[in-house]
Amino acid sequence: MGEQSMSKKIAIICAVSLNGVYGIKNKLSGKEEIPWKSSYDLSRFKEVTKGKTVVMGRGTWDSLPIKPLPDRENIVVSSNGRLKLPDGVRLVGNIDEAIEKATTEKVFIIGGARLWASVLPIANYIYLTIVHKDILVTDRTFVFKQALTVAKLYPNYHLIRDFFIEEDIGDGKDTKVEFFEYERRFKK
Ligand SMILES: NC(=O)c1ccc[n+]([C@@H]2O[C@H](COP(=O)([O-])OP(=O)(O)OC[C@H]3O[C@@H](n4cnc5c(N)ncnc54)[C@H](OP(=O)(O)O)[C@@H]3O)[C@@H](O)[C@H]2O)c1
Repeated sequence: MGEQSMSKKIAIICAVSLNGVYGIKNKLSGKEEIPWKSSYDLSRFKEVTKGKTVVMGRGTWDSLPIKPLPDRENIVVSSNGRLKLPDGVRLVGNIDEAIEKATTEKVFIIGGARLWASVLPIANYIYLTIVHKDILVTDRTFVFKQALTVAKLYPNYHLIRDFFIEEDIGDGKDTKVEFFEYERRFKK
Protein backbone atom coordinates (compact mmCIF):
# COMPACT_ATOMS: atom_id res chain seq x y z
CA MET A 1 0.00 0.00 0.00
CA GLY A 2 1.39 3.41 -0.92
CA GLU A 3 1.96 6.16 1.60
CA GLN A 4 -0.85 8.28 0.23
CA SER A 5 -3.59 5.65 0.18
CA MET A 6 -2.79 4.16 3.55
CA SER A 7 -4.94 5.22 6.46
CA LYS A 8 -2.55 5.31 9.38
CA LYS A 9 -3.31 4.12 12.88
CA ILE A 10 -1.58 6.03 15.64
CA ALA A 11 -0.55 4.22 18.81
CA ILE A 12 0.88 5.67 22.00
CA ILE A 13 3.21 3.35 23.87
CA CYS A 14 4.24 4.55 27.27
CA ALA A 15 5.36 3.27 30.67
CA VAL A 16 4.97 5.37 33.82
CA SER A 17 5.35 4.94 37.56
CA LEU A 18 2.38 5.43 39.90
CA ASN A 19 3.38 9.06 40.36
CA GLY A 20 3.69 9.62 36.62
CA VAL A 21 7.45 9.46 36.15
CA TYR A 22 8.67 8.00 32.85
CA GLY A 23 12.31 9.11 32.66
CA ILE A 24 15.13 10.05 34.98
CA LYS A 25 18.68 11.32 34.78
CA ASN A 26 21.11 8.71 36.09
CA LYS A 27 23.07 10.39 38.89
CA LEU A 28 26.27 8.52 38.10
CA SER A 29 26.40 8.58 34.30
CA GLY A 30 24.34 11.75 33.80
CA LYS A 31 22.41 9.89 31.07
CA GLU A 32 18.66 9.98 30.64
CA GLU A 33 17.07 6.58 31.15
CA ILE A 34 13.93 4.71 32.12
CA PRO A 35 13.94 4.50 35.94
CA TRP A 36 13.31 0.73 36.20
CA LYS A 37 14.31 -2.45 34.45
CA SER A 38 11.34 -4.52 33.42
CA SER A 39 12.39 -7.28 31.06
CA TYR A 40 8.75 -8.19 30.53
CA ASP A 41 7.85 -4.63 29.50
CA LEU A 42 10.86 -4.51 27.23
CA SER A 43 9.98 -7.74 25.45
CA ARG A 44 6.37 -6.62 25.13
CA PHE A 45 7.56 -3.31 23.65
CA LYS A 46 9.66 -5.23 21.12
CA GLU A 47 6.85 -7.60 20.23
CA VAL A 48 4.24 -4.86 19.82
CA THR A 49 6.41 -2.45 17.81
CA LYS A 50 8.32 -4.98 15.65
CA GLY A 51 8.03 -4.23 11.94
CA LYS A 52 6.28 -0.91 12.60
CA THR A 53 7.32 2.73 12.65
CA VAL A 54 8.54 4.18 15.94
CA VAL A 55 8.45 7.97 16.34
CA MET A 56 10.46 9.55 19.14
CA GLY A 57 11.69 12.91 20.39
CA ARG A 58 15.37 13.69 20.19
CA GLY A 59 15.72 13.13 23.96
CA THR A 60 14.41 9.60 23.67
CA TRP A 61 16.69 8.95 20.70
CA ASP A 62 19.69 10.15 22.76
CA SER A 63 18.69 7.84 25.60
CA LEU A 64 18.46 4.64 23.54
CA PRO A 65 21.13 2.10 24.51
CA ILE A 66 20.85 0.49 21.06
CA LYS A 67 20.10 2.73 18.11
CA PRO A 68 18.38 2.67 15.79
CA LEU A 69 15.81 0.33 17.31
CA PRO A 70 16.25 -2.79 15.16
CA ASP A 71 13.55 -4.22 12.86
CA ARG A 72 11.56 -0.99 13.02
CA GLU A 73 11.43 2.22 11.01
CA ASN A 74 12.92 4.90 13.28
CA ILE A 75 11.78 8.53 12.99
CA VAL A 76 13.25 11.24 15.22
CA VAL A 77 11.52 14.57 15.88
CA SER A 78 13.79 17.57 16.46
CA SER A 79 13.83 21.29 15.77
CA ASN A 80 17.47 20.85 14.76
CA GLY A 81 17.35 20.18 11.04
CA ARG A 82 21.08 19.39 11.05
CA LEU A 83 20.96 16.65 13.63
CA LYS A 84 23.25 13.80 12.51
CA LEU A 85 21.49 10.46 12.44
CA PRO A 86 22.57 7.10 11.05
CA ASP A 87 21.54 6.13 7.52
CA GLY A 88 17.98 4.96 7.34
CA VAL A 89 16.78 6.99 10.34
CA ARG A 90 14.46 9.81 9.37
CA LEU A 91 14.68 13.27 10.87
CA VAL A 92 11.50 15.37 10.94
CA GLY A 93 10.60 18.76 12.41
CA ASN A 94 7.23 17.93 13.96
CA ILE A 95 4.81 15.12 14.74
CA ASP A 96 2.57 15.71 11.71
CA GLU A 97 5.53 15.28 9.41
CA ALA A 98 6.53 12.13 11.30
CA ILE A 99 3.10 10.57 10.77
CA GLU A 100 3.04 11.63 7.14
CA LYS A 101 6.48 10.16 6.44
CA ALA A 102 5.86 6.88 8.26
CA THR A 103 5.64 4.01 5.80
CA THR A 104 3.80 1.49 7.98
CA GLU A 105 0.08 1.54 8.67
CA LYS A 106 0.53 1.46 12.45
CA VAL A 107 2.72 4.25 13.82
CA PHE A 108 3.97 4.08 17.41
CA ILE A 109 4.70 7.27 19.33
CA ILE A 110 7.25 6.02 21.85
CA GLY A 111 8.00 9.25 23.79
CA GLY A 112 8.53 11.63 25.37
CA ALA A 113 5.69 13.52 26.99
CA ARG A 114 5.34 16.32 24.44
CA LEU A 115 4.84 13.85 21.61
CA TRP A 116 2.47 11.62 23.61
CA ALA A 117 0.37 14.62 24.62
CA SER A 118 0.18 15.92 21.08
CA VAL A 119 -1.29 12.68 19.73
CA LEU A 120 -3.69 11.90 22.60
CA PRO A 121 -6.61 13.53 20.80
CA ILE A 122 -6.02 11.52 17.61
CA ALA A 123 -4.45 8.24 18.71
CA ASN A 124 -6.27 5.00 17.89
CA TYR A 125 -4.50 2.91 20.51
CA ILE A 126 -2.76 3.36 23.83
CA TYR A 127 -0.40 0.73 25.20
CA LEU A 128 0.16 1.83 28.75
CA THR A 129 2.34 0.21 31.39
CA ILE A 130 1.95 1.28 34.99
CA VAL A 131 4.83 0.40 37.27
CA HIS A 132 3.26 0.28 40.72
CA LYS A 133 5.91 2.29 42.48
CA ASP A 134 6.53 5.94 43.29
CA ILE A 135 9.77 7.18 41.78
CA LEU A 136 11.69 10.11 43.19
CA VAL A 137 9.97 12.89 41.31
CA THR A 138 11.71 14.42 38.31
CA ASP A 139 10.35 16.73 35.65
CA ARG A 140 9.91 13.76 33.30
CA THR A 141 6.29 13.10 34.15
CA PHE A 142 3.24 12.45 32.03
CA VAL A 143 -0.50 12.74 32.49
CA PHE A 144 -1.09 8.98 32.84
CA LYS A 145 -0.77 9.11 36.62
CA GLN A 146 -3.50 6.53 36.96
CA ALA A 147 -4.71 4.40 34.13
CA LEU A 148 -8.30 5.39 34.78
CA THR A 149 -7.49 8.99 34.00
CA VAL A 150 -7.42 8.05 30.34
CA ALA A 151 -10.96 6.74 30.27
CA LYS A 152 -12.23 9.66 32.34
CA LEU A 153 -10.59 12.34 30.24
CA TYR A 154 -11.17 10.69 26.91
CA PRO A 155 -14.42 8.71 27.12
CA ASN A 156 -14.09 7.24 23.64
CA TYR A 157 -11.00 5.28 24.67
CA HIS A 158 -12.13 1.80 25.67
CA LEU A 159 -10.09 -0.53 27.82
CA ILE A 160 -9.58 -3.71 25.80
CA ARG A 161 -6.92 -5.45 27.87
CA ASP A 162 -5.65 -5.22 31.46
CA PHE A 163 -3.27 -7.69 33.08
CA PHE A 164 -0.30 -7.57 35.42
CA ILE A 165 2.82 -9.40 36.45
CA GLU A 166 5.02 -9.23 39.55
CA GLU A 167 8.63 -8.56 38.69
CA ASP A 168 11.92 -7.46 40.24
CA ILE A 169 12.50 -4.14 38.49
CA GLY A 170 15.98 -3.62 39.89
CA ASP A 171 15.60 -3.25 43.65
CA GLY A 172 15.50 -6.90 44.69
CA LYS A 173 11.75 -6.87 45.44
CA ASP A 174 8.73 -7.81 43.37
CA THR A 175 6.75 -4.88 41.99
CA LYS A 176 3.40 -5.03 40.24
CA VAL A 177 3.75 -4.05 36.59
CA GLU A 178 0.36 -3.57 34.97
CA PHE A 179 -0.44 -3.46 31.25
CA PHE A 180 -3.40 -1.63 29.78
CA GLU A 181 -4.50 -1.45 26.17
CA TYR A 182 -7.02 1.11 25.06
CA GLU A 183 -8.70 1.40 21.71
CA ARG A 184 -10.37 4.57 20.62
CA ARG A 185 -13.74 4.16 18.98
CA PHE A 186 -14.74 7.11 16.93
CA LYS A 187 -18.41 7.98 16.69
CA LYS A 188 -19.78 7.51 13.19
N1 LIG B 1 8.94 5.19 30.17
C1 LIG B 1 8.79 5.30 28.86
O1 LIG B 1 7.83 4.77 28.27
C2 LIG B 1 9.77 6.11 28.09
C3 LIG B 1 9.68 6.20 26.70
C4 LIG B 1 10.58 7.00 26.02
C5 LIG B 1 11.54 7.71 26.72
N2 LIG B 1 11.62 7.57 28.06
C6 LIG B 1 12.60 8.35 28.83
O2 LIG B 1 12.21 9.70 28.69
C7 LIG B 1 13.35 10.57 28.62
C8 LIG B 1 13.36 11.30 27.28
O3 LIG B 1 12.12 11.93 27.09
P1 LIG B 1 11.96 13.52 27.10
O4 LIG B 1 10.53 13.84 27.35
O5 LIG B 1 12.98 14.10 28.01
O6 LIG B 1 12.40 13.91 25.65
P2 LIG B 1 11.78 13.66 24.18
O7 LIG B 1 10.36 14.09 24.11
O8 LIG B 1 12.11 12.30 23.73
O9 LIG B 1 12.67 14.67 23.38
C9 LIG B 1 12.51 16.07 23.53
C10 LIG B 1 13.06 16.70 22.29
O10 LIG B 1 12.36 16.19 21.14
C11 LIG B 1 12.17 17.23 20.19
N3 LIG B 1 10.74 17.48 20.09
C12 LIG B 1 9.75 16.99 20.87
N4 LIG B 1 8.55 17.43 20.43
C13 LIG B 1 8.80 18.20 19.35
C14 LIG B 1 7.98 18.93 18.45
N5 LIG B 1 6.64 18.92 18.57
N6 LIG B 1 8.57 19.64 17.47
C15 LIG B 1 9.92 19.63 17.33
N7 LIG B 1 10.75 18.95 18.16
C16 LIG B 1 10.19 18.25 19.14
C17 LIG B 1 12.96 18.40 20.71
O11 LIG B 1 14.28 18.17 20.23
P3 LIG B 1 15.34 19.36 19.94
O12 LIG B 1 15.71 19.90 21.29
O13 LIG B 1 16.45 18.65 19.24
O14 LIG B 1 14.63 20.35 19.09
C18 LIG B 1 12.88 18.20 22.22
O15 LIG B 1 13.91 18.86 22.94
C19 LIG B 1 14.53 9.65 28.83
O16 LIG B 1 14.81 9.60 30.21
C20 LIG B 1 14.03 8.30 28.36
O17 LIG B 1 14.73 7.23 28.97
C21 LIG B 1 10.76 6.80 28.76
